Amino acid sequence: MAAPVARRSDQNFRVYRPPAPAPRAKRLGPIRLISALKRNPLECWTSEHFEKLVVAGGLPVGHVVIINHPAAIRRVLLENDINYRKDMLQRRVLSAGMGEGLLSAEGHQWRSQRRTVAPLFARRTVTQCAPAMMDAANALVERWRQHGDATTLDVAAEMARLTLDVLERTIFSEGFGCNAEEARRAMVTYFNTVGRIDPLDLLGMPDWIPRINHLRVRSTLRFFERSIEHLIAARRQRLAERANSGPNDFLALLLAALDPYTGEPMSEAEVKSNIFTFIMAGHETTSNLLSWSLFLLSQSDDWRRRVQAEAEREINGSVMDLAEHLPETRAVIEEAARLYPPIAAISRVAIDADELAGEVIPGGTLVVISPYVLHRHRLLWPDPDLFEPRRFLGENRALIDRYSYLPFGAGPRTCIGSTFALQEATIVLATITRNFSLHLAPGHKVWPLLQVTLKPAGGLPMIIRCNR
Ligand code: HEM
Repeated sequence: MAAPVARRSDQNFRVYRPPAPAPRAKRLGPIRLISALKRNPLECWTSEHFEKLVVAGGLPVGHVVIINHPAAIRRVLLENDINYRKDMLQRRVLSAGMGEGLLSAEGHQWRSQRRTVAPLFARRTVTQCAPAMMDAANALVERWRQHGDATTLDVAAEMARLTLDVLERTIFSEGFGCNAEEARRAMVTYFNTVGRIDPLDLLGMPDWIPRINHLRVRSTLRFFERSIEHLIAARRQRLAERANSGPNDFLALLLAALDPYTGEPMSEAEVKSNIFTFIMAGHETTSNLLSWSLFLLSQSDDWRRRVQAEAEREINGSVMDLAEHLPETRAVIEEAARLYPPIAAISRVAIDADELAGEVIPGGTLVVISPYVLHRHRLLWPDPDLFEPRRFLGENRALIDRYSYLPFGAGPRTCIGSTFALQEATIVLATITRNFSLHLAPGHKVWPLLQVTLKPAGGLPMIIRCNR
């Protein structure tokens, strides 16, 4: 396979270098690596990861390769995906408590679920959610106005509230069955505890040895389980009393969804797992994407003005196709997802031997694709560490190889919620930027922390100034 080379556009990209750990010159030894992985896996990458297309070794578990070669990534996620299954580490960290929901199911069960829920996430259905997304954005504008001009708020926590609000309005429009603020706090606990990589996992210890993080998170998982059971029971009862009653939200569609091949609905356990999956997979990821976008805009007057002008021009039109009319806003979001991909690592285990970018990959190898490394790779991107949304505009967009840019993964297991997330982020970013200018609180140092998702460590305190 020929090595790809970064193609530069003829424009000179203007410079803002957002904060990120400098790659290490040398790999860490096993003990320091385990503790660094637990603290912040982003700080473990070395220069070779950002310069080579395939790097072998580096973790204390078995044989590992990190691949950045677009054609090799395409083979793992698409062409030969049948030979690669999700690994235990990913299942534990990314999908803890999600049971056999779409994110963690495999084989026949995954295929049937994906077919069953696909219509819920089709563009046509997602477009119907635009007014609810706009309502949530407007509610946030009202809340911020009530705080008064120049208030300092933790924008990361605010974005978490907002994405939860969007989920409530679209997926479970009668509410989570519990207090939304309680749900937000439970999610913080979930992500703070489950998200820490356990040394026992890295050492390949068997499942029956309890992980402290998972013991800690049990009561939080029980809280969600009870809330979700309550939600489903209330809706089923209402439907039993009167068919076709109740809101036409994602929950209604999920309860009515049938596998188009078999005509079968999902089991009760699958419905529960998938509700939990949609909340967990869709909430923190989108909220972090918005936080990073707002932070990056606060560092570039030029882009803040461009997004604001676009929003002024377009927001009075129809909300249904609004996101389609905001290309500059969308470019900022795509650039934020490049620099700070909320899901910063995708991994698989090779079932049988394979060949990737000319390297023999024995069966059992852990194959890691890190969107964070890939998106900053020296051979794949011009000026990879600089914030430059123009990469995603016009003809520059066409220069980006599909397998060099993976914020939502690729292939059959690509993110089912990507259209939903991008539409939400575009509507919300435009609405906020139209109404407010955000400035980082003096003295606060922004730093990316990988804990399940890639978030600003210690939140994002910002001064909110009203534009209008
Ligand atoms: C910015 C927001 C989001 C990002 C960056 C993101 C990222 C990803 C990535 C990288 C994957 C692939 C994982 C892999 O191949 O191992 C994935 C899968 C998935 N995502 Fe998202 N996601 C986002 C929003 C959402 C939303 C809003 C939902 C649902 C409401 C969602 C639900 C899922 C599900 C169910 C899967 C598993 C799909 C399958 O295996 O068939 N995601 N996501």
